[in-house]
Amino acid sequence: MFGYRGLTMAEDGMLKISDVRCDYLVKKYGTPLYVMNEEEILERIRDIKQNHILKYNGVAAYASKAFLNKEMCRIIKREGLWLDVVSGGELYTAKSVDFPMENVIFHGNNKTYEELSMAVEYGVGRIVIDNFNEIDILEDILKENKKTIDVQIRVTPGIDGHTHEFIRTGQVDSKFGFPMHDESALYAVKRILNSEGLNLRGVHAHIGSQLHQNNIYRLEVEILAKFVGDIKNLFGYEIDEINCGGGFGIFYNEEDKRLPISFFTDVIHEAVDEFFNKYNLKKPTVFIEPGRWIVGEAGVTLYKVGAIKDIKGVRKYVSVDGGMTDNIRTALYSAKYTAVVANKLNIDDKEVVTICGKCCESGDILIRDISLPKLEKGDILAVLSTGAYNYSMASNYNRIPRPPVVIVNNGKDRLIVKRETYDDILRNDI
Ligand SMILES: Cc1ncc(COP(=O)(O)O)c(C=O)c1O
Repeated sequence: MFGYRGLTMAEDGMLKISDVRCDYLVKKYGTPLYVMNEEEILERIRDIKQNHILKYNGVAAYASKAFLNKEMCRIIKREGLWLDVVSGGELYTAKSVDFPMENVIFHGNNKTYEELSMAVEYGVGRIVIDNFNEIDILEDILKENKKTIDVQIRVTPGIDGHTHEFIRTGQVDSKFGFPMHDESALYAVKRILNSEGLNLRGVHAHIGSQLHQNNIYRLEVEILAKFVGDIKNLFGYEIDEINCGGGFGIFYNEEDKRLPISFFTDVIHEAVDEFFNKYNLKKPTVFIEPGRWIVGEAGVTLYKVGAIKDIKGVRKYVSVDGGMTDNIRTALYSAKYTAVVANKLNIDDKEVVTICGKCCESGDILIRDISLPKLEKGDILAVLSTGAYNYSMASNYNRIPRPPVVIVNNGKDRLIVKRETYDDILRNDI
């Protein structure tokens, strides 16, 4: 269905996800409900292994900000990928399931003293240094603890990611990384090389998110290769890792293509061969950090339809029992989703409606102007491609408890995150 692996229709028109019926899931777990298709996640990890890790000796770190909880950490651990974390909370989650710390990359543009101390104590594999403040803090911590740590340095290569403004992170005007248009990045390298505790292993850039073109990664590699060459010429030090970040795009609606990881990794590795050769450099180990690409299309959110408001000649609003608290991406990025009526897949007659949430915000719209079979109270709406940046960005706005997460795989289901209760909402209130 729409090219999604694992979405099928039962004989009575009911949506099945990895062979599990949606009416069964709704009855068992209630709505709203995040459903993650494990088969899809594993298939995508397999694709990354074949087309980056095995084929090119690359390293792939799952960008956990896309979707993280203990079970997702266990899956990544079992599959042998690295983990990219950006906060003490993500790091703590990894630690809670004994994730191998040497395979953790710690990111962030304002890591605190406490978070960096935690990373040093746990012995994470790489810290990606984002700014001078971090160099100061890390030097203090490492001196005090008589330790050393491997680092990569994040730079902003000044590339426009051609995506929604708020998820562009590679351009010069960015809160992330050291600018390259002046001497900042090279000065940071000098400071790191002069530091006793910091081992400079790599250079890192992340040029945006939900990208569907691969030539932008070629440009990124070219800029990083030149930078590695400049470092060698200026300081006589040769870096052996480059990290191209994440950003690999997925299918949300008919405007998007569904791309295999090789579409991106082949271009990245060809560019590495070309430009590291051009600048007389040894071939580095290439890191990538896919988040959305691994989990995005694996997620489906199930809602129940409630109030329906037909403003004649204007718009028909259909309210569901979730909204911007479980999926902020439409309000935040004007994201566009595809949805189906899970219990009416065999109905062809359609009408255009706008799906809205139950939050006290006019902007709480999940999908504008979508063509669906006539919706009635109690119908199950399934919003597709909600695996990334939905659960992980969920909030308790309006004191709405967060939905549970269920994993389905080949006819079986298992709860991996419980539904929050009203008592959970009160937990920290004094
Ligand atoms: C440094 C870094 N790596 C990886 C990612 C993951 O991006 P995506 O989920 O688009 O692959 C992000 C996203 O913001 C990021 O900032």
